[in-house]
Amino acid sequence: MAEINLQEIHDLLISVAHEAGRMMMAATPSYLSSGTKKNSADLVTETDQAVEKLVSTRLLSAYPTFKFIGEETYYQGQKLTEEPTFIVDPIDGTTNFVHTYPAFCISLGLAVNKSAAVGVIYNPFLDELYTGIKGKGSFVTRNGTKLRLPLKQEPEPLKDLSTCLVGTEWGSDRSGNNFAVKTKVFSKLAASKDDGGAMVHSIRSGGSAALNLVLVAAGQQDVFWEGGCWAWDVCAGWCILVEAGGIMVDGNPGDWQPTMEGRTYLAVRGAPSGQRDIVEEMWKVIGDGKMIYES
Ligand code: IPD
Repeated sequence: MAEINLQEIHDLLISVAHEAGRMMMAATPSYLSSGTKKNSADLVTETDQAVEKLVSTRLLSAYPTFKFIGEETYYQGQKLTEEPTFIVDPIDGTTNFVHTYPAFCISLGLAVNKSAAVGVIYNPFLDELYTGIKGKGSFVTRNGTKLRLPLKQEPEPLKDLSTCLVGTEWGSDRSGNNFAVKTKVFSKLAASKDDGGAMVHSIRSGGSAALNLVLVAAGQQDVFWEGGCWAWDVCAGWCILVEAGGIMVDGNPGDWQPTMEGRTYLAVRGAPSGQRDIVEEMWKVIGDGKMIYES
């Protein structure tokens, strides 16, 4: 296979992200006109579909031999291969988009050999662009200024969960095993040490896995833990995270090298020490309450 020019792909993804951002900002979404997928908390809008069409057309006309996996055209059984693959969420944070809560974005990733090689995430409401190329670092551009991630040149060491701001998401499953595991972990994370909890600084649920990952990459959130999201929610953010010194492990205890399609993820920010301790403490909090998702 010919050498892939990651810089060229990164530049194209940025141009597509800006075009998609204009489409999102021109739309007038409402819960009245939104459709649902798995249940009433799993929303989709015409804009999700229109943006994915634009993105797949632009990317595949420039790179016709590449594969494409997108949230709105994914079919059961579609699998990521070693081939260069664009992995795309046209709107991550669709619920936020529908409510005009200002945390939605387009998430554009390129995976090569099943690993994230380029990531571009754009929040059009805040005009914030996050980018990363494997081996070349990651950045945020806001108000016309481009800053290297993480934002602190010398991030603090990670001590234990009691000093962490943790991002996690409710997701759309509201019953069954996975809901029970999540609510138990949320409660254990928040509870006081006297009651056997981790007493984290606080818990955030921003509503977009991709934006959670870039917050961890930036060092503005120490940890992100989630089960239920998909490759398109994490591919771009994974590249940006790792390029900022962060790590991604499995959201269920035990696996230090999770797969893109594993559906359970734990991200920890870059730090001079303590990353592994945070993972181990988080896995202890989860205990034997394994989240189970089809992949
Ligand atoms: C969802 C968001 C949400 C996460 C879900 C994702 P969508 O993506 O990232 O934060 O909890 O797992 O599916 O549906 O808004 O593209």
